[in-house]
Amino acid sequence: MQQITGREAAAVLRDPRFVVPPVPPGATGIAWLRASVGRFSTGVAHDRRRALAVAVLAAAPPATLPAGGDGHPVTVLARALGITEPVTDLVRAVAQAYQPGTGDESRADAAVDRLVTILGGGYDEPTAALIGVLTQACDATATLIERARHRPVDEVLHDDPPVRVTRRQALVATTVGGVPVQAGEVVLVGLAGGPAFGAGPRRCPGREHALTLVAGALARDSPTVHEGTPDTAPGTGTD
Ligand code: HEM
Repeated sequence: MQQITGREAAAVLRDPRFVVPPVPPGATGIAWLRASVGRFSTGVAHDRRRALAVAVLAAAPPATLPAGGDGHPVTVLARALGITEPVTDLVRAVAQAYQPGTGDESRADAAVDRLVTILGGGYDEPTAALIGVLTQACDATATLIERARHRPVDEVLHDDPPVRVTRRQALVATTVGGVPVQAGEVVLVGLAGGPAFGAGPRRCPGREHALTLVAGALARDSPTVHEGTPDTAPGTGTD
């Protein structure tokens, strides 16, 4: 599969002639989730479902995300969203198979169905948006936290982004960087070199949340940084 990188990657992400490869319908489980969230939708369905995800995020603004918790970004985000039951392990089980063809589908199916029950909704788009936001927050943010323990966040995002690639399907024949792409062809779009959170109308709406969760987790790693006054506390003066 052809991989597109650098400046051309960002251009493809902004190009309406490239869409997210469609997913099949599903009544329950992970197939239902994929078929009901903005992430795998196109056109007006994407606009409507993305707006639902943005509304979920607006209900837990970055400033309300506490540093700490059990260290997992999903736990912190779920609490800020008023979810009282423990959901992190279920969300991890969804995340490992969220991208089609990447994980254990039956484990993800069971986790999605349990989350629908816990969250009290039916199999509807607002419930899918809530599960989708928690799922999108899961592995990428945990990976960013882990890598940012060894390198500055900006460097990680530029050189070694938590989401390495995303996929797009060309609606029409075209060329990218002089290389022909056939109508219907699926290409890999590399996210190193600047577009770590995507670009264009599908860019990550959780960027500020993610960066806040990362900062909170790193602060928990070295709590002394937050003790004492700013002038005298050891370890301040960076960032
Ligand atoms: C609190 C944490 C996060 C939340 C709530 C979140 C949420 C989302 C959502 C809902 C979408 C789908 C947007 C749409 O349908 O239009 C998305 C897309 C995306 N997210 Fe995040 N995300 C988070 C963390 C991250 C992190 C840490 C990264 C990587 C550094 C990341 C990278 C991306 C990318 C690259 C896309 C776009 C994928 C594409 O265009 O195909 N996200 N995110």
